[in-house]
Amino acid sequence: MIDDLRLQAKYCQDTSPLYAALYEHLAGYWLDHNAGQTDPALAAFFDTVERCWQGRIFTAWFERPLLLAGALHEQALSGRASALAPFYSSCGGSFDASQGEAFGAALKATLAECHQDMAGFLSQSSIQTNETSRGLSWLLPVLSGWQETRPAVTLIELGCSAGLGLVADHYGYRVEGLAGQVWAQQGRPHFDMALCGAGAEAALASLSHVQAFGGATKTRIGCDLRPLNGADEQQGRILEALIWPDNAPRLARLRDAMKIKRAIPLRFEAGDMVDCIDRLATERFADTPMVCLFNTVATCYLDDDHYARLRAAIANAFSGLWADKDCLWVEFEMPRISDDLPDYAQGQEQLIKVHRPDGKGGLQTRYFGAATAHPKEVEIF
Ligand SMILES: C[S@@+](CC[C@H](N)C(=O)[O-])C[C@H]1O[C@@H](n2cnc3c(N)ncnc32)[C@H](O)[C@@H]1O
Repeated sequence: MIDDLRLQAKYCQDTSPLYAALYEHLAGYWLDHNAGQTDPALAAFFDTVERCWQGRIFTAWFERPLLLAGALHEQALSGRASALAPFYSSCGGSFDASQGEAFGAALKATLAECHQDMAGFLSQSSIQTNETSRGLSWLLPVLSGWQETRPAVTLIELGCSAGLGLVADHYGYRVEGLAGQVWAQQGRPHFDMALCGAGAEAALASLSHVQAFGGATKTRIGCDLRPLNGADEQQGRILEALIWPDNAPRLARLRDAMKIKRAIPLRFEAGDMVDCIDRLATERFADTPMVCLFNTVATCYLDDDHYARLRAAIANAFSGLWADKDCLWVEFEMPRISDDLPDYAQGQEQLIKVHRPDGKGGLQTRYFGAATAHPKEVEIF
């Protein structure tokens, strides 16, 4: 645990002085605790943590540090951690490294006072975020095919979290092409993006259909193991709490996206994405001649066997009741070890893949583009 906290502190060094200090203080508390010298003010906090995490196995090193930081941030956002608020930008405060000692005192006081209220957050089974900047990663490939036919659409997101990706066509954008051409749409949250690569010009041109595409989208369905309902104050705060308090722009984008999402009818399906596809495949979606599935940073959580089952379930759906529709599945995901990548798609952090029915009951895959997980630039192959 101490190593995990220190590693996280190092990770935050350049980007978040507040969290670098937070993790260093926590590492110090854990060091004393493990040496049998627990600060008496923190004894009940350590009992709570032990109760929340009893019998639980953490696979990723960052899970426990992020859960602790998120639980504290949630206390600050809910107004219960008044001692922390002066240091958290998300609560109107500010922090610089010279305030480390005062921040440590506030942190200790908060852990002593709020540990029981933190239990719900600490006991969560997963760390669940919803990044709003990934909309173009699925809109660009969808629009590049959609402009030819313009049918009505059923849109389905796998691993949707709170469903903020499902309404990305309503966000604001300023997208610059290779030769300085610009496409823009008003709205908040707002994203500045650049397109590069051989397909940039055509992709930029296809963006002029975003609004028409939004209007044609009859049904929006989000599947997730645990869909987060942003209308529920507590669940909305989980998403906010996992954003670093001093990352004000990302927090503002999340809050703006939540507002948009509340105004658009979404349907949520809870459960594993393979089961969701199997269930949805029994629906005809008779009013839409196109079904478009997408996922962003979600199938990376599936092992190869699970991913193979997903691919098979989608191929079945595409060749079953939806066989007479225009079907496509877009992914914005890390390359999988099992991927047989063409040269131009090698070495990328995240790839945009487009799968379509191959006419023989399977899928054919095309690599459309690449970007980072928090994209500012999308390369179109
Ligand atoms: C890192 S989050 C990404 C959320 C969103 N797609 C985005 O890009 O912001 C991954 C999401 O996938 C969901 N997830 C992971 N495994 C899943 C599965 N087997 N079936 C359904 N959802 C899953 C998680 O609950 C979580 O909401």
